[in-house]
Amino acid sequence: MERENFGSKIGAILAAAGSAVGLGNIWRFPIETGRNGGAAFILVYIGCIILLGMPIMMSEFLIGRHTQSNTARAYQKLAPGTPWKWVGRLGVFTGFFILSYYAVVAGWTVEYALLALGNQFQGMTTKEEYERVFTDFSSDPVWPIVWLIVFILLTHFVIVRGVARGIERWSKVLMPLLFIIVAVLVVCSVSMPGAGSGVEFLLRPDFSKVTGKVVLNAMGQAFYSLSLGMGCLCTYASYFDRKTNLAKTTLQVCIIDTLIALMAGFIIFPAAAAANYGLAPQDIGPNLIFITLPNVFQHAFGAVPALAYVFSAMFYLLLIVAALTSTISMHEVVTSYMSEEFNLKRSRSALIETTLSIVLGIFCALSFGKLADWRLLDMTIFDIFDWTASNICLPVGGMFIALFTGWYLDRQLFRDEITNGGTVRAPYFKVLIFVLRYITPLLILAIILSNFGLF
Ligand code: PHE
Repeated sequence: MERENFGSKIGAILAAAGSAVGLGNIWRFPIETGRNGGAAFILVYIGCIILLGMPIMMSEFLIGRHTQSNTARAYQKLAPGTPWKWVGRLGVFTGFFILSYYAVVAGWTVEYALLALGNQFQGMTTKEEYERVFTDFSSDPVWPIVWLIVFILLTHFVIVRGVARGIERWSKVLMPLLFIIVAVLVVCSVSMPGAGSGVEFLLRPDFSKVTGKVVLNAMGQAFYSLSLGMGCLCTYASYFDRKTNLAKTTLQVCIIDTLIALMAGFIIFPAAAAANYGLAPQDIGPNLIFITLPNVFQHAFGAVPALAYVFSAMFYLLLIVAALTSTISMHEVVTSYMSEEFNLKRSRSALIETTLSIVLGIFCALSFGKLADWRLLDMTIFDIFDWTASNICLPVGGMFIALFTGWYLDRQLFRDEITNGGTVRAPYFKVLIFVLRYITPLLILAIILSNFGLF
C-alpha cells in the first residue's frame, strides 16, 4: 500500500502544531499558571519545554520519519525482536484512552458554543447560576453523549479523508483561524479597563512561589501540551518528507504551542481582573472555562452586552477548533496502527477506533451523572482515565522514548536522520545526546515518583 505524505512543509508544521495546541493550552495552562503562582511558573514551564519537550519531540520526529511507519511498527523496524515495540503499543493504547475522555470535554465546548451563540448567558449574574447550568448539563444522561458522538464523528470525517486531504488540509484552515481568534481575544482582554493586575500577574515573577511541586507541575503540563509520550508526533513525522528539517520543525512547533498557551493566559487573567470578579488567580480550578469564564465575560463587558456575546461565542468556537486538531492526532495514532498492522482499509480501521472511542467515551461522559458513584480510590471513570493517561502513560512513554534514542539507537543513524544525511548542520548533537541520556529520563522519573507521593 502506497503511504501518504504531507504535501507541504507548512502543512506538516501546522498539523503537528495542531496536535500540540488544544485544550491543554487554553484550558489547562491558565489553570496551572493560576494555581502555581503566575509569572514564575511560566518561566519554569519554558525551561521544561526546552529541557524536556524539545529533546523528546526531536526523538519522536526522528523515529517516525526514519521508519515511515505507525508508532508500534517504528520500534519493530529500529529494534527488531526486542521489547521496544511495547513503547509504541503503549502509545496506541494511550491515544485510545485520551481520545475517549478528551472528546467528552471537547463535546462540552460544543454545548457551550451553542449556549453562547444563543445568548443564553445574558442576564445571568451569580456564580450559582453558572454552576447550575454546568452541573445540569454535565450530569444529563443524553446531551453530553450526543456532543461526544458529534465530536468524534467530526474527527472521523477528517481522518477518513486521509493525511493530505484530511489532516493537512483541515490543519491549514483551522490553525490560522485559531490564531486569529486568540489574537483578537487577547487584544480585547488586555485593553479592558482594570485589566492591568491580570497582566502584571503574568509578567512579574515571584520566585519565592517556586517549590518542587511547582516545577513538577510545569513538567507535566509541558508533556501534555506538546502531545508527547504517546507516539502522536512520531506518527505525524512518518508523513514528513526526507527534506523536512527536524530540529527546525521542533523549534517551530514548540514556539507556536508556547505562544498560544501564553496568549490564553493573556485572555483569561486580564479579563478576570477587569471583571473585578473577585477571582483570585490561585482559586482558578478545572471548572474555569465552563463556570467562571462565562461569568467573567458577562461581568467584564457588562456595559456592552453585544461585546460579551461576541467574546463568549468566539472563545468557545476557539476551543472547538483547538480540541479538534488535537483529537484528529490522537485518532490518527490508533487508525494508522490498526490499518498497517492488521492490513485494514483506512476507512475501516478509522471506523473501529471511532466506535470504540464512543463506547468508552460514553462511560466517561456518564461519570458526571448516572455513573458518578462508580469510583476507584475516590476517582470517577473520567478521573481515572485522565489521571492514568497524563500522569502515568505519557511520562512513562516519554521516558522510554528518551532512553531509546539516547542509549539504544545507533548514533550514526541518529545523526544522519537529524542532519538529513549530512545536508543540515547539527552543532547541538552532543548536548542533545547527553540530555536524552541523563537529564530527560531523570526529570521524568521525578514526575512519576511525585505522582505517587514518593518525592
Ligand atoms: N496536546 C494536546 C493539548 O494540548 C493534548 C494531546 C495530548 C494531544 C496527547 C495528543 C496527544 O490539548
